[in-house]
Amino acid sequence: MRIDILTLFPEMCEAVLSESILKRARGAGLVEIHCRDIRPYTKDKHHRVDDSPYGGGFGLVMQAQPVYDCYRALCAELGKKPHLIYMSPAGQTLTQQKVKALSEMDNLVLLCGHYEGMDERVLEEIVDEEVSIGDYVLTGGELPALVLADSITRMQPGVLAADEAFEKESHYDFLLEYPQYTKPPVWMNRAVPEVLLTGHHGNIDRWQREQMLERTLKRRPDLLQKAQLTAADILYLRTFPESRDCPFLTDRLADCVEDYVRTQKKVSPTSLQRKFKMEYALAVRMLDILEQRGVVSAYEKGKPRTVLPSQGEEYVEISETE
Ligand code: ADE
Repeated sequence: MRIDILTLFPEMCEAVLSESILKRARGAGLVEIHCRDIRPYTKDKHHRVDDSPYGGGFGLVMQAQPVYDCYRALCAELGKKPHLIYMSPAGQTLTQQKVKALSEMDNLVLLCGHYEGMDERVLEEIVDEEVSIGDYVLTGGELPALVLADSITRMQPGVLAADEAFEKESHYDFLLEYPQYTKPPVWMNRAVPEVLLTGHHGNIDRWQREQMLERTLKRRPDLLQKAQLTAADILYLRTFPESRDCPFLTDRLADCVEDYVRTQKKVSPTSLQRKFKMEYALAVRMLDILEQRGVVSAYEKGKPRTVLPSQGEEYVEISETE
């Protein structure tokens, strides 16, 4: 993948791109990142790239001509029109999902504004989308462009030690990352959680998953709405008082139970209780929800409920001679 950063401050960008993992990824040819200086493209005899805004107001506005000519020179070099992102606090806020989508493109151009902004006409002419890195305003688009370039680079195959490393981390799947520990096993009287020292991978995986769930519930419950949760995940979340602020969890649990119930002919609260290791009262509640959804028949005391065929499941075969 190739990323081109169009900026008035290429050295500022190069300084960041020439360190640590970004430096290594570029050196190994896993990503190509170029910083292109906009200033040499100005036709102004004093090399100005900005001017005062029409209509008054303070500050300076970047002129259209040097930005456009810089962009055209890049297009000529690439032999095509690349996807261009203008870094702007007015853009769509960056998410890990957006990073993933962008990381699958072959070419990206990140355009950095500076000063009070950029002449709107050049934006209308060349920008495909605007991206913001958060609801705050920086002095220019360089730091946001570097944030975006960094997040995209680490998604490129071969950049991280193991490609699955990012599958377990914060935000990848709308869940926050579990806590990490390294040597020594005890520091300032604080011990590493025992399970991590056992070498039992099944238990460690379960513990890490539970930590992700608990952290997300307590710190970013808004993310849980979008996370892929199993019935076991939801039952674990329900053990925390904070889950009472997430009423959608009950519906999500009912979705999981519904998937199971549809594979059965009959179900009862006890059979659900056993299958999902849930309390009896919750199993009854699940059946009530599924009854409202028309998935199971009305409850007859003491008898299992019948699972109703789902709509559209029955069809008539028409023979060719008819
Ligand atoms: N330029 C200035 N502030 C910005 C932000 N928050 N995101 C993207 N570009 C910006």
